[in-house]
Amino acid sequence: MAHILITFHSQTGNTERMAGAIAAGVAETEGSRANLKRALDTAAQDIRECDAVVFCSPEYFGYMAGAMKDLFDRTYEELKDDRRSLKKPYCVAISAGNDGTGALTHIERLCRGYRFKKVQNPIICKGPVTDGILAKCHELGRTVAEGVNAGIF
Ligand SMILES: Cc1cc2nc3c(=O)[nH]c(=O)nc-3n(C[C@H](O)[C@H](O)[C@H](O)COP(=O)(O)O)c2cc1C
Repeated sequence: MAHILITFHSQTGNTERMAGAIAAGVAETEGSRANLKRALDTAAQDIRECDAVVFCSPEYFGYMAGAMKDLFDRTYEELKDDRRSLKKPYCVAISAGNDGTGALTHIERLCRGYRFKKVQNPIICKGPVTDGILAKCHELGRTVAEGVNAGIF
Protein backbone atom coordinates (compact mmCIF):
# COMPACT_ATOMS: atom_id res chain seq x y z
CA MET A 1 0.00 0.00 0.00
CA ALA A 2 1.64 3.23 -1.17
CA HIS A 3 1.26 5.87 1.52
CA ILE A 4 1.74 9.37 0.08
CA LEU A 5 1.99 12.47 2.24
CA ILE A 6 0.78 15.70 0.62
CA THR A 7 1.76 18.58 2.85
CA PHE A 8 0.64 22.10 1.97
CA HIS A 9 0.18 25.66 3.06
CA SER A 10 -2.41 28.01 1.63
CA GLN A 11 -3.90 31.35 2.60
CA THR A 12 -6.38 31.96 -0.18
CA GLY A 13 -7.00 28.40 -1.34
CA ASN A 14 -4.94 28.13 -4.52
CA THR A 15 -2.28 25.76 -3.23
CA GLU A 16 -4.92 23.90 -1.25
CA ARG A 17 -6.83 23.13 -4.46
CA MET A 18 -3.65 21.86 -6.12
CA ALA A 19 -2.82 19.71 -3.08
CA GLY A 20 -6.38 18.37 -3.04
CA ALA A 21 -6.13 17.34 -6.69
CA ILE A 22 -2.81 15.58 -6.03
CA ALA A 23 -4.38 13.75 -3.09
CA ALA A 24 -7.35 12.74 -5.24
CA GLY A 25 -4.99 11.31 -7.84
CA VAL A 26 -3.26 9.27 -5.15
CA ALA A 27 -6.52 8.11 -3.60
CA GLU A 28 -7.87 6.96 -6.98
CA THR A 29 -4.82 4.80 -7.57
CA GLU A 30 -5.37 1.23 -6.52
CA GLY A 31 -3.44 0.21 -3.43
CA SER A 32 -2.62 3.78 -2.41
CA ARG A 33 -3.47 6.06 0.48
CA ALA A 34 -3.20 9.86 0.57
CA ASN A 35 -2.40 11.76 3.74
CA LEU A 36 -3.34 15.38 3.02
CA LYS A 37 -2.05 17.65 5.79
CA ARG A 38 -1.40 21.30 6.40
CA ALA A 39 2.31 21.98 6.78
CA LEU A 40 1.71 23.43 10.23
CA ASP A 41 0.12 20.13 11.30
CA THR A 42 2.79 17.95 9.66
CA ALA A 43 5.39 16.34 11.92
CA ALA A 44 8.67 14.52 11.34
CA GLN A 45 6.85 11.26 11.96
CA ASP A 46 4.51 11.92 9.00
CA ILE A 47 7.51 12.28 6.70
CA ARG A 48 9.36 9.32 8.17
CA GLU A 49 6.38 6.99 7.82
CA CYS A 50 5.26 7.88 4.30
CA ASP A 51 6.56 6.28 1.11
CA ALA A 52 6.74 9.60 -0.75
CA VAL A 53 6.00 13.24 -0.01
CA VAL A 54 4.64 16.07 -2.14
CA PHE A 55 5.46 19.57 -0.85
CA CYS A 56 2.85 22.11 -1.96
CA SER A 57 3.59 25.76 -1.26
CA PRO A 58 2.63 29.18 -2.51
CA GLU A 59 5.43 31.57 -3.36
CA TYR A 60 5.51 34.46 -0.94
CA PHE A 61 8.14 37.19 -1.36
CA GLY A 62 10.24 35.04 -3.68
CA TYR A 63 10.38 32.20 -1.16
CA MET A 64 8.30 29.26 0.07
CA ALA A 65 5.52 30.04 2.56
CA GLY A 66 6.77 30.60 6.09
CA ALA A 67 4.66 27.68 7.26
CA MET A 68 6.47 25.37 4.83
CA LYS A 69 9.85 26.66 6.02
CA ASP A 70 8.65 26.03 9.57
CA LEU A 71 8.04 22.38 8.66
CA PHE A 72 11.62 22.06 7.44
CA ASP A 73 12.92 23.93 10.51
CA ARG A 74 11.05 21.60 12.88
CA THR A 75 12.00 18.32 11.22
CA TYR A 76 15.56 18.66 9.94
CA GLU A 77 17.45 17.59 13.04
CA GLU A 78 15.21 14.56 13.52
CA LEU A 79 15.26 13.39 9.91
CA LYS A 80 18.65 14.34 8.51
CA ASP A 81 20.30 11.07 9.55
CA ASP A 82 17.16 8.96 9.75
CA ARG A 83 17.52 5.76 7.75
CA ARG A 84 13.85 5.72 6.69
CA SER A 85 14.02 9.26 5.37
CA LEU A 86 17.14 8.99 3.21
CA LYS A 87 16.26 8.94 -0.48
CA LYS A 88 12.60 9.54 0.37
CA PRO A 89 10.90 10.17 -2.98
CA TYR A 90 9.55 13.71 -3.22
CA CYS A 91 8.20 16.28 -5.62
CA VAL A 92 6.96 19.85 -5.44
CA ALA A 93 3.92 21.86 -6.49
CA ILE A 94 3.95 25.66 -6.33
CA SER A 95 1.22 28.24 -6.70
CA ALA A 96 2.50 31.70 -7.61
CA GLY A 97 1.18 34.97 -8.92
CA ASN A 98 3.67 35.22 -11.75
CA ASP A 99 6.94 33.44 -10.86
CA GLY A 100 7.38 30.53 -8.42
CA THR A 101 11.04 29.83 -9.08
CA GLY A 102 12.20 31.23 -5.73
CA ALA A 103 9.90 28.95 -3.74
CA LEU A 104 10.83 25.95 -5.86
CA THR A 105 14.58 26.59 -5.71
CA HIS A 106 14.60 26.87 -1.94
CA ILE A 107 12.41 23.81 -1.34
CA GLU A 108 14.60 21.72 -3.64
CA ARG A 109 17.74 23.00 -1.92
CA LEU A 110 16.42 21.97 1.49
CA CYS A 111 15.32 18.58 0.15
CA ARG A 112 18.88 17.98 -1.04
CA GLY A 113 19.98 18.69 2.54
CA TYR A 114 17.62 15.96 3.78
CA ARG A 115 18.93 13.72 0.99
CA PHE A 116 15.42 13.16 -0.35
CA LYS A 117 15.15 11.94 -3.94
CA LYS A 118 13.30 14.03 -6.54
CA VAL A 119 11.13 11.68 -8.56
CA GLN A 120 8.97 13.97 -10.69
CA ASN A 121 9.33 17.38 -12.25
CA PRO A 122 7.66 20.18 -10.28
CA ILE A 123 4.38 21.78 -11.17
CA ILE A 124 4.42 25.58 -11.03
CA CYS A 125 1.07 27.30 -11.44
CA LYS A 126 1.47 30.96 -12.41
CA GLY A 127 -1.74 32.87 -11.89
CA PRO A 128 -5.19 31.33 -11.50
CA VAL A 129 -5.48 27.62 -10.80
CA THR A 130 -7.10 26.33 -13.98
CA ASP A 131 -8.74 22.99 -14.72
CA GLY A 132 -5.63 22.17 -16.75
CA ILE A 133 -3.39 22.71 -13.72
CA LEU A 134 -5.69 20.63 -11.54
CA ALA A 135 -5.58 17.83 -14.13
CA LYS A 136 -1.76 17.96 -14.02
CA CYS A 137 -1.85 17.80 -10.23
CA HIS A 138 -4.21 14.83 -10.36
CA GLU A 139 -1.87 13.10 -12.79
CA LEU A 140 1.12 13.84 -10.56
CA GLY A 141 -0.63 12.15 -7.63
CA ARG A 142 -1.36 9.08 -9.74
CA THR A 143 2.19 8.94 -11.09
CA VAL A 144 3.80 9.15 -7.65
CA ALA A 145 1.48 6.48 -6.22
CA GLU A 146 1.99 4.17 -9.19
CA GLY A 147 5.75 4.66 -9.04
CA VAL A 148 5.87 3.74 -5.37
CA ASN A 149 3.61 0.72 -5.93
CA ALA A 150 5.75 -0.44 -8.83
CA GLY A 151 8.93 -0.01 -6.78
CA ILE A 152 10.54 2.24 -9.41
CA PHE A 153 11.31 5.09 -7.02
C1 LIG B 1 2.38 37.99 0.99
C2 LIG B 1 2.38 37.52 -0.43
C3 LIG B 1 3.56 37.49 -1.15
C4 LIG B 1 3.56 37.02 -2.48
N1 LIG B 1 4.75 36.97 -3.15
C5 LIG B 1 4.77 36.47 -4.41
C6 LIG B 1 6.01 36.34 -5.11
O1 LIG B 1 7.07 36.65 -4.61
N2 LIG B 1 5.99 35.82 -6.37
C7 LIG B 1 4.80 35.44 -6.98
O2 LIG B 1 4.85 34.97 -8.11
N3 LIG B 1 3.62 35.55 -6.32
C8 LIG B 1 3.57 36.03 -5.05
N4 LIG B 1 2.40 36.12 -4.38
C9 LIG B 1 1.16 35.59 -5.00
C10 LIG B 1 0.86 34.18 -4.49
O3 LIG B 1 1.96 33.31 -4.70
C11 LIG B 1 -0.35 33.58 -5.19
O4 LIG B 1 -1.47 34.42 -4.99
C12 LIG B 1 -0.67 32.19 -4.71
O5 LIG B 1 -1.61 31.62 -5.58
C13 LIG B 1 -1.21 32.17 -3.29
O6 LIG B 1 -1.47 30.84 -2.94
P1 LIG B 1 -2.49 30.46 -1.78
O7 LIG B 1 -3.88 30.85 -2.26
O8 LIG B 1 -2.36 28.99 -1.63
O9 LIG B 1 -2.07 31.20 -0.54
C14 LIG B 1 2.35 36.59 -3.07
C15 LIG B 1 1.16 36.64 -2.32
C16 LIG B 1 1.18 37.09 -1.02
C17 LIG B 1 -0.10 37.10 -0.23
